[in-house]
Amino acid sequence: MEIKRVGVLGCGLMGSGIAQTAASAGFETIVREVSDELLQKGFAGIEKSLSRFAEKGTITAEQQKAIRDRLSGTTSFADLADCDIVIEAIIENIEEKRKTYAELDRICKPETIFASNTSSISITEMMTATSPSRQQRFIGLHFFNPVPIMKLVEVVKTILTDDAIYERAIEFGKQLGKVPVRAGDKTGFIVNRLLVPYMLDAIRALEEGVGSIVDIDTSMKLGLGYPMGPFTLGDFVGLDTTYYIAEIMFNEFREKRFAPPPLLKRMVLAGLYGRKSGRGFYDYTKDPKNPTPMKLV
Ligand code: 3HC
Repeated sequence: MEIKRVGVLGCGLMGSGIAQTAASAGFETIVREVSDELLQKGFAGIEKSLSRFAEKGTITAEQQKAIRDRLSGTTSFADLADCDIVIEAIIENIEEKRKTYAELDRICKPETIFASNTSSISITEMMTATSPSRQQRFIGLHFFNPVPIMKLVEVVKTILTDDAIYERAIEFGKQLGKVPVRAGDKTGFIVNRLLVPYMLDAIRALEEGVGSIVDIDTSMKLGLGYPMGPFTLGDFVGLDTTYYIAEIMFNEFREKRFAPPPLLKRMVLAGLYGRKSGRGFYDYTKDPKNPTPMKLV
């Protein structure tokens, strides 16, 4: 069960970070996207990140070139056929994911391990789109943004995952330079189970006038040593993503703490997605490095 060749599905923010991490760890890595344009966009992000590491001296120019040489891109599923593991980081849409897995199941060799980077969709629900033998080789590998920097990977086991495959996945997480934690296939796994109610509570606190955007962010940063306050983090993760995860968690657990507050829903409806759209809890359009808080309540 040696892993040599890694396939990554999707070259967006997470997929490109996962591909970069795998190639940096010495794995031959191939990334599949739907178009050359999206591939190029993802590879430009990888290049930028590698250059940051090179500028700091974390990697040498030779290592940067070797990482690049281990990375390739494709728009065809067929090129992933002989990968030892395929990590999927496509759009968070269950129909799209099931369709992709069913196709991949037909194409990939029987030994290929399937892993999903989903943050909130049930691994079991995706897994059932594949054949019974593949279902034993199906896990979750949930990385954190920015993937090349964040040390954690949640390794998710379903009730059908083979024990040896699971241990192999834990080992693979370590080979990637991450610290793996073991998590069951419960929506949100460990991190989002705790993070999402915290972020939603911060929005409720804002709605109730407990503090301003800046004061709540500053409190959590300076009072607890968090790298970002909840609103800066929400804008960083994406408010559309946060809303989507909260909806799935609320549907799964039917608990109020997972229910997205009205303000979050309205922000998403209004296109305030955070950094990616230029505005969220903060406005990044004038000076992205010094964003100004939005007037929302
Ligand atoms: N590639 C390479 N280097 C990077 C990088 C990248 N993509 N992103 C950041 N860095 C480096 C910077 O060069 C810098 O290096 P240095 O300290 O050696 O100079 C270092 O990381 C810190 O970056 P910055 O100075 O630009 O900014 P910060 O000090 O604010 O750090 C951060 C940025 C690492 C993102 C930090 O703010 C942080 O840890 N924030 C919290 C992130 C977080 O919580 N992520 C998880 C989100 S939840 C999630 O992903 C799960 C999903 O399911 C929702």
